[in-house]
Amino acid sequence: MIILGIETSCDETAAAIVNDKREILSNVVLSQLKEHEVFGGVVPEIAARAHMEHLDSIIKAAISDANLTIADLDGVAATCGPGLIGGLMIGMMSAKAIAASQNIPFLAVNHLEGHLLTARLTDNLTFPYLVLLVSGGHTQILVAEDVGIYKRWGTTLDDAAGECFDKSAKLMGLPYPGGPNLEKIAKNVENPITAYDKFSLPKPMTQHKNCDFSFSGLKTAVRTHVDNLPEGDLAPKDIADLAYVFQDTVAEVLANRSENAMKRFIAEYKPINPTLVVCGGVSANQTIRTKLDKLATSYNFELCAPPLKLTGDNGAMIAWAGLENLRSGKTSPLDFKAKPRWPLDPRAEARHGAGVKA
Ligand code: KG4
Ligand code: ZN
Repeated sequence: MIILGIETSCDETAAAIVNDKREILSNVVLSQLKEHEVFGGVVPEIAARAHMEHLDSIIKAAISDANLTIADLDGVAATCGPGLIGGLMIGMMSAKAIAASQNIPFLAVNHLEGHLLTARLTDNLTFPYLVLLVSGGHTQILVAEDVGIYKRWGTTLDDAAGECFDKSAKLMGLPYPGGPNLEKIAKNVENPITAYDKFSLPKPMTQHKNCDFSFSGLKTAVRTHVDNLPEGDLAPKDIADLAYVFQDTVAEVLANRSENAMKRFIAEYKPINPTLVVCGGVSANQTIRTKLDKLATSYNFELCAPPLKLTGDNGAMIAWAGLENLRSGKTSPLDFKAKPRWPLDPRAEARHGAGVKA
């Protein structure tokens, strides 16, 4: 079974081909970094125009890199939500056109499902497993019970972790994209103890026994520290110290929330080989991985984190989720509508103030 996957929900134009032997035959990602850099963040209209301009050639490249022709495809998947509607429409309509012209199934994929099923592509993981999904738009803890069956145990009440990285980086004067740049700068810390003495930050939600998150207070605390520094350009040492403390604090919060989830997972599922999957763009962060790895070991969990080329948005995760859906008999009609909001667990109760992030 050979599936083409298309990803256009945010600022990556991506297409990839995977097969049911868990092989990635091609994986083409065009990042729109340059287009959005001057604005310090993703501009939806610019993103949609860039997807429109590049998607055809990215799909062609994915097919030719895999040494295939369009006639070899058994299905075509596209991210149909959640995400920016302009980009979603472009990817979805291209996939529908290919499906209609080749008379093959169309598979509407939830972007978050793409992130959380990647562990089955890379590590052949079996259900159920626990998931910490940390991206630019979402921060959630879920249990993946089966393809299409996800229980959401926690979500953010305000900003997502990636969003908090990006906004805090901006406050520190770091260029877009904030997350990876902040991680790079944090490595320049000279003395973590004095950094903590100078810039302590709150650890939101850690006093609660649940699995929810809140990051807006953390961002505000970063702003207060920056405002309290002497006027003018921030000193590189201050930026490195603040970036270090910020990153370490986010990692602590994510580990604290995951710990509650791990205890609950053990109690409710009694798994033989318990696994915590960390996925989404923020899961590229090494400090976060190290902290989660330590935590997992202490609870006899396996930590499963995707290889770095699959942490950020890509077509392979969408192709794989499409393949899993097709194998489970779940295809989508050609009149499927893109969903800017598309909760993975429709039964999860809305959190007060969670807005579109739930
Ligand atoms: O999953 P993703 O590529 O797109 C969404 O679905 O949102 O995640 C993007 C987010 C951005 O906020 C980006 O700053 C963050 O992931 N990110 C990182 C790192 N690499 C990407 N955050 C912290 N450390 C990193 N190394
Ligand atoms: Zn993503």
